[in-house]
Amino acid sequence: MAIGIMGAMPEEIFLISENITGKKITTIGGRDYITGKLCEQNVVAVFSRWGKVAAAQSATTLITNFNVKTVIFTGVAGGADPDLNIGDIVIARDLLQHDMDASPIPAFKKFEIPLLGLTHFISQLELRTHAEKAAARFLASSGLADIDSEILAEYGILTPKIAVGTIATGDEFIADKQKIAKLREEINGLLCIEMEGAAVAQVCHEHLVPFVVIRAISDKADSDAMHDFSKFVKNVVNHYSLGIVTEMLTQWEHYN
Ligand code: ADE
Repeated sequence: MAIGIMGAMPEEIFLISENITGKKITTIGGRDYITGKLCEQNVVAVFSRWGKVAAAQSATTLITNFNVKTVIFTGVAGGADPDLNIGDIVIARDLLQHDMDASPIPAFKKFEIPLLGLTHFISQLELRTHAEKAAARFLASSGLADIDSEILAEYGILTPKIAVGTIATGDEFIADKQKIAKLREEINGLLCIEMEGAAVAQVCHEHLVPFVVIRAISDKADSDAMHDFSKFVKNVVNHYSLGIVTEMLTQWEHYN
């Protein structure tokens, strides 16, 4: 069985796709699923597009059509914890959908997924630890050397941190400090926000497939977010995605 690799934008998955050997492309539901080998592992890579529905449909196809045994999601996120800087890496311990709210109905808590009885989806400890070690190896090796040094200097990316914790997902690009402050009040230990992770996590949870979500901080979800995000996506994220995923796959026997 293969390992599924997802990114929401072509930039997040492009270098990974380029490095897959023995490629075969299957188009389902408007997405191209690229099967082949990466670091001697059988993989299926897909660019899911943005948002929870797009991500859920791609994750479901990976599981039901390609029978993947694990899902790795790699991409960018907006920082919510003020200690995080652009270029830092966040690995999800748990994810929730910040735009899910059925709480006017007394049976449900805010963020609870109706009928699942869960607010947070927790990633498998072994897989998330494997991702954390891979991210550390990526940063310790010459991982950043392939990235334009002017871009790194502009963002002040010198020695990026790795944080493991809570990611919140919603169908909204957030560029508003007040919104982030409110989410931080509501969600204990919130590290960053993005638009796909918790949807992938829900699908994987329902299919009993281990998942991990790895995010590089591209912006701080503030008034500079659009500018920072666009530049980071264009110049940086590809290298993070390929570097970390490659590190995970080359040492796969230590996870499996
Ligand atoms: N992904 C990267 N930055 C983001 C932001 N500011 N809001 C939502 N998703 C993001």
